[in-house]
Order: sequence, then C-alpha cells, then structure tokens
Amino acid sequence: MRSPSFPTIPICSQIGHSPLVPIKVESGHRIWCKLEIFNPSGSVKDRLALGALQRAWEQGLVRRSTPVVEASSGSTAIALALLCSQLGLHFRAVIPEGASEERTWTIRAYGGEVETVAESQGMMGAEKRALELADETKGFYVDQFNNENGPKVHHQTACEVHQALPNKQFDAFVSGVGTGGTIVGVHQYLSEKGPNTKVVVARPKDPYHTLHDIGFTPKGFDSHFERYKQSNNTAFQNTFSEIEVTEEQAIHWTYRLWHLGFPVGPASGVNFAAAVALASQYPSSANIVTIFTDRMERYFSTELFETIKQASTKANTTCCGCCICHESLDPH
Ligand SMILES: Cc1ncc(COP(=O)(O)O)c(C=O)c1O
Repeated sequence: MRSPSFPTIPICSQIGHSPLVPIKVESGHRIWCKLEIFNPSGSVKDRLALGALQRAWEQGLVRRSTPVVEASSGSTAIALALLCSQLGLHFRAVIPEGASEERTWTIRAYGGEVETVAESQGMMGAEKRALELADETKGFYVDQFNNENGPKVHHQTACEVHQALPNKQFDAFVSGVGTGGTIVGVHQYLSEKGPNTKVVVARPKDPYHTLHDIGFTPKGFDSHFERYKQSNNTAFQNTFSEIEVTEEQAIHWTYRLWHLGFPVGPASGVNFAAAVALASQYPSSANIVTIFTDRMERYFSTELFETIKQASTKANTTCCGCCICHESLDPH
C-alpha cells in the first residue's frame, strides 16, 4: 500500500534554509552563526516538528483527527503548536510549572492546549503525563528525547552550513544540548565528510540559575547525545569536547548580540560565548560555526529583561543600563 503523502502547506518551505552570517570578534575571528530564529515559530525546533509530523503522517500514525501530544518546556511545544494549527491538527502540550509565561501564551494563541505538572516533577514528570495523555486520547506522542527524527533533521542543517561556508571549510561546530538532536545530527554529517571537524558541546556552568529555563538538559539526560556517545566511542573521543560557559558570560554575550541587532534568547548567548572561547584555539582564518536557537521575545518576563525594564522607568535614558551600549563588534 502506498504511504499517504504529507499535506502540502506553504509554511513548510519556510522551515530551514536559514541565513548563515559571520560576526567578527575582537580576536579577529569570524564566528559563523546559523540564524534558526528565522524559522516560522522562531526556533530551531521547527525542523524537528516538521520532520516528526511528516514521518508520523507517512507511517499512518497521524491523521486529521489525531491529537498531537508533547512534553516540552519551550521551543518544541511552540513549534508543534504552530505547525499543528497550520495542518488543522489539535496540539496538547504538557509543561512543568515555572516555564516563562510567554511559552504558554504562545501555544494557546495557536489553539493548542496546555497542561502543567508540578515544577518539582520536572521534564520527567511532564513526559510521563504526556505519555498517559497520548494513551487516553489515542494521540500521537512526539517524544523528542527519543524521536529518531531529532538527529536526522540536523544532517540537513549541517549540509546547509557546509555549502554556505567560504571554501566549504568547516573547522568547528559548537552548540548546547537539549535532547542532543542538533549536535548528533551535525556530527553524523561531518563524520561522513571526513575526520577533521571538531564538534564541541557548550554547557552552562550552572544550568539551574537565572538561565535555567532555556532548553539545556543536565548531563546524562540528553538522550540522543548519550546514546550516540555509547555507540560511537572511538569516533566520539577524537572529535568531541566540551566548553563550560558561566552565567555572566552567557548574559554578557546575549546583550551584545541584541545590540548588534540579533533578537536571540539566552541559549544563543551561551553558544556564542562558547564559540568565542573556542576560536582562541584556532588561527583567525578558521571557520567556527554556532547556532542561534531561539528568539528574544520568549524571555520578556524573565530576569534577562530586568535591566531594560528598570531603564525604561528612568526619564531621558537612552542606554538600557547593561554596560555594553558603547561597545561594538564588527558584524562583517
Ligand atoms: C533554546 C534551545 N533550542 C534548541 C537547543 C538544541 O536542542 P537539541 O539538543 O534538542 O537539538 C537548545 C540546546 O541547548 C536550546 O537551548
């Protein structure tokens, strides 16, 4: 029997193919940034949402009447909510309490339903409830931590980067991990091309501080990454390393990126901080690549915007008070 084809909707062609732009830093290096914030829902997770729904549709697991269920405290739920509303599907998210309000509002704005579990139950509790909900409603559970499309879609991300780099010279890729889908997919692509590109994991030094709500997963819970490490021991050891980023560095770089006109969330600040640190190990001609994962607007209600909110209440203030207004980088 022929597998049913996924509905053709115009928004699908807007997912992926994001710009790759260089930002020059003080050391003279150009950091190449993949602007995933330009995906329709504003984050890299549109790629997973499309890949997972497309595959489930082709396998007959999703039809117009099938609810789509996911446990996610952020970008994945927003991406699925948008895509499901475009496809005429009903979306139900399970979220741990404490996620920024913008997330819940956005999912509801797209017609999705949001159910919360206690913050103390965390993502594990949300996943357990999502599984039950999918069972109760005969829904499709996306299960981003185990969905094989997580890494698969980022083979394409890496290919887009590779094609766009000057002389196709791809020296290093650095990114944080949520499920590990991005870093594994990129590593798979690069290892097919040759053994020379380093892949570096950016880890927030203290993921439970101000920046706790930005999509990073504690070591060991990033399941795609953990499985990949175990199955690829030798290749893994030769090409992977880790860089820790402090909260101060992440916030500093997030603010600087805003001042350069990049509307990014703090995970992109972590990634850029790690890329700057990594660049110091390379000659200035090297192409270091990172990814801007999600958009600034998702964090208006968080502490990141405190200095800006305070500055707005002072009369005649042109500076947001973040200490970096007069510093500049050369984006070209
Ligand atoms: C906001 C955000 N989006 C996406 C990612 C990457 O997610 P994954 O590892 O699931 O591909 C991260 C990783 O840290 C993130 O913080």
